[in-house]
Amino acid sequence: MKRKEFIKRMGLGAGAFTLSPLLVSCLDKNSVLNGKFQLPLVLPSELTGSSSTLNASPSNIQIGDLYAQSAFQFNSSIPGPTIRKKRGDTAHIRFENNIGQKSIIHWHGLIVPPEIDGHPKDAISSGAYTYQFSLNQRAGTYWYHPHPHRITGEQVYRGLAGFFIIEDEEEKALNLPSGNYEIPLVIQDRRISETGQIIYNPSMPERMMTGFLGDTILVNGVPSPYHDVEPGVYRLRILNGSNARIYNLAFQNDLSFRVIGTDGGLLPEVIETNELLMAPGERADILVDFSEVAESNIQLISKPFDVPSGSGMMGMQNMMGGSGPDQGTGFTLMKFNIGETTHQDPFDLPQQLTPASFPDESSADRTREIRLAMKMMNGHTINGRQFEMERVDESVEQGSTEIWEFINTSNVPHPMHVHAVQFKVLGRSGTRGLTPTEAGWKDTVLVMPKEIVRVIMKFDAQKGMYVFHCHNLEHEDNGMMANLEIV
Ligand code: C2O
Ligand code: CU
Ligand code: CU
Repeated sequence: MKRKEFIKRMGLGAGAFTLSPLLVSCLDKNSVLNGKFQLPLVLPSELTGSSSTLNASPSNIQIGDLYAQSAFQFNSSIPGPTIRKKRGDTAHIRFENNIGQKSIIHWHGLIVPPEIDGHPKDAISSGAYTYQFSLNQRAGTYWYHPHPHRITGEQVYRGLAGFFIIEDEEEKALNLPSGNYEIPLVIQDRRISETGQIIYNPSMPERMMTGFLGDTILVNGVPSPYHDVEPGVYRLRILNGSNARIYNLAFQNDLSFRVIGTDGGLLPEVIETNELLMAPGERADILVDFSEVAESNIQLISKPFDVPSGSGMMGMQNMMGGSGPDQGTGFTLMKFNIGETTHQDPFDLPQQLTPASFPDESSADRTREIRLAMKMMNGHTINGRQFEMERVDESVEQGSTEIWEFINTSNVPHPMHVHAVQFKVLGRSGTRGLTPTEAGWKDTVLVMPKEIVRVIMKFDAQKGMYVFHCHNLEHEDNGMMANLEIV
């Protein structure tokens, strides 16, 4: 946030709210950290081998060389190690919980049996939980994170999240950039105190409206990093791993890039664009050709975007104890320094990627309305109710195809996520239309204020209890989650 803007905003509401000391310190920190590109990007380590352990523990770590923070980590790394598997493999993963809070891991986007899915009722206070499951789904960029009720937001925020990448033959045949030319990037915003503590203390208005927005944007745990690349074609697997912040991904000078995949793997065909809206939980698989850049470097940025009709209230966040740029503000994320020569073999991208096999609207067995609303001073609701561990909210027949209509009656955005399926977005009310990633298989879809978004999905997962919820983690933790039973 610029100082001028800040003063202007204070002028609007100074009578009603007090200025928090945190806000003042964050202004200065912003100017030090954001947009400096002094630190190299860190690439997450990879967990290979047929069985692995994810050990969650509290630790103090350095973020770049700028500050230490009190964090939670998987296997002492932020982000957690990337799990890379082939379709058809079996995963054996032991989760060890040493963080001193209840926790359980959810494999976001993977379709697994109910006891593997990380339902909040399976959370353990300590000890280990053993997962064994086979990977019978499309190649794609999935991820894992904790899912205990009411504290998912805090645990993800303190560092518990990592990539889960599945590869398959169909994707391999396309010969996409790999090795050094394939880069996973998780984008997260954080608030960090002067003394180096991660701050996670959402105020009531933050729980009720914006969610917890940070003032420092991290890419793979590093504030404003740089990365050295060759003038060639790179595959960027991007995850919005933030609790609440939405990014409108773009490159400087509107360099166009190609969207090739999203939550559930590759799109039917390549879509060229120069900006891409990504809500918390969503993934984008893109190709960017750095040989098209005339300069010796280029920034990955988040361009300003509109938050329809809720924007009046969103602008209030800083008056209510929050800090950092408002939802919809633009800023830089990282910088790519482009070298002189490339070792990459000439690369030809087919326009067609994987054949579309989405269910047809006419095949739907029924349509369900899913109403998203705010309960005055008390969190968020789905169809009028807040989460209860044992109550079945939606019961769906195994093998059936359903259309769900997410109806956002509130004035804040809700990225809606359904476990145990990948769906296709059929349409969205209003003028926004579908984004390029919505041409593919999705498990998370952004429903802006007053929008109605229709999706279609077939429930082929094993019978049992799963959840669906808003992936704004403050909303989720404050009740915006429901049980989905496949019967
Ligand atoms: Cu990524 Cu139920 O969440
Ligand atoms: Cu999930
Ligand atoms: Cu929400």
